[in-house]
Amino acid sequence: MQKLPGFRDFYPNECAFRNYIFGTWRRVARNYGFQEYDGPTLEPTDLYRKKSGEELKTQLFRFNDPGERDVCMRPEMTPTLARLVAARERDFRKPIKWFSIAPFFRFEKAQRGRLREFYQINCDLIGDASPAADAELLALTVALFRAFGLTQSDFYVRLNNRELWARFLADRGLPPERLSEFLAVIDKLERDEESTTAKKLGAFGLSLGELKEFLATPTDQLPGFEELFRELRLRELEPFIQVDLTIVRGLDYYTGLVFEVFDRSRQNRALAGGGRYDGLIKTISDGAIDLPAAGFAIGDVVLGNLIEEIDHARARLEAHRRAARLQAFVIVAAEERRAEALKLVEQLRSQGYATDYSLHPMKVGKQFQQAEASGAQYALVIGQEWPLLKLKRLADRVEETVSLPELFQKLGLPPAYVPHPYL
Ligand code: HAM
Repeated sequence: MQKLPGFRDFYPNECAFRNYIFGTWRRVARNYGFQEYDGPTLEPTDLYRKKSGEELKTQLFRFNDPGERDVCMRPEMTPTLARLVAARERDFRKPIKWFSIAPFFRFEKAQRGRLREFYQINCDLIGDASPAADAELLALTVALFRAFGLTQSDFYVRLNNRELWARFLADRGLPPERLSEFLAVIDKLERDEESTTAKKLGAFGLSLGELKEFLATPTDQLPGFEELFRELRLRELEPFIQVDLTIVRGLDYYTGLVFEVFDRSRQNRALAGGGRYDGLIKTISDGAIDLPAAGFAIGDVVLGNLIEEIDHARARLEAHRRAARLQAFVIVAAEERRAEALKLVEQLRSQGYATDYSLHPMKVGKQFQQAEASGAQYALVIGQEWPLLKLKRLADRVEETVSLPELFQKLGLPPAYVPHPYL
């Protein structure tokens, strides 16, 4: 039986990689003062009807549940978050700074960087409409990539404000109702042939030349970015960020700032996307709650590809893998010492050393093979000389005989040990 296209199995290696990504994301988001939340994977289809954007609506995993409700596997977090905040707005101090790490589902053509089930970290800041809030989100975006060892020569943020295009249309006498239709043309600019774009622009009475001229506006002549960039400069983030008028985002709810993250080689699809959506909470709460909001999401698929492609990011992953391996593999060299060996195994584990051993009596050579295969740092050999034991560092096979107190000294402190709540 095959798995469905665009879905993944996570064998231990892939699971470890995923945990590395999630763990790093979680650490950085908390570091920026964001709190974790989650919502249901299944939502009423109505939640996405209002504002999610045309393309996303064609990609829904949508069905009737056994109770005849029209439901969807969530394709994104933002409408769910808007619903959560609108429902209990008064319970939370503003600004709300929340993050979530969760799976999402989109019926896309499965291809490099795009799957049908993927994970995102979503980070959103609600209740503050200032450029300071935007800068905080951009700072977190950058930090979430740097934490994997990626640098300004590996990735960058392309940023824009949809209001610039709203003004562009207004200056040419076009009605604001046509903005979303127009932004769809800009969104496809990079992928469409010039002739196709020219034809689409024709429907607005606009020419390609006119568009190109506007696209070439020098950044310092574009209004609205001054405060944001002052903040970004103070945080030394300017080298990561580039204004780019072609970034408009495919989702309908964005109102101002929009941005996407790309790798510098541009060999990959977008790594992240986000922006300001000041009207979404109001729409979702049918006008009851009006709160400004902004946020972004990073996907795990393209990021994972990039970490594997870029040497210094892969090196950091390998270092993490080494730190996360077993510390000890206990080898029972004399069967009559099994009781002591088991006791030591449990003692090591309870002190936070990841420890394993052979469940059944086995030749010493076989147990060593298991120890090697387990990736453990040390083999601890328990034999006749107990309470002395042999400590063997498996990487270079250096071996010494130690007493129990010496053993714990040699092992050093266990890595970031969190005790069981019942200990
Ligand atoms: P989005 O641009 O649709 O934005 O998705 C954000 C990121 O999720 C993408 O840049 C990509 O890395 C990843 N992603 C999207 N679709 C797929 C896919 N089919 N396979 C693999 N990865 C994918 C949003 O979802 C907005 N809700 C983000 C947001 C949060 N805006 C405000 N707050």
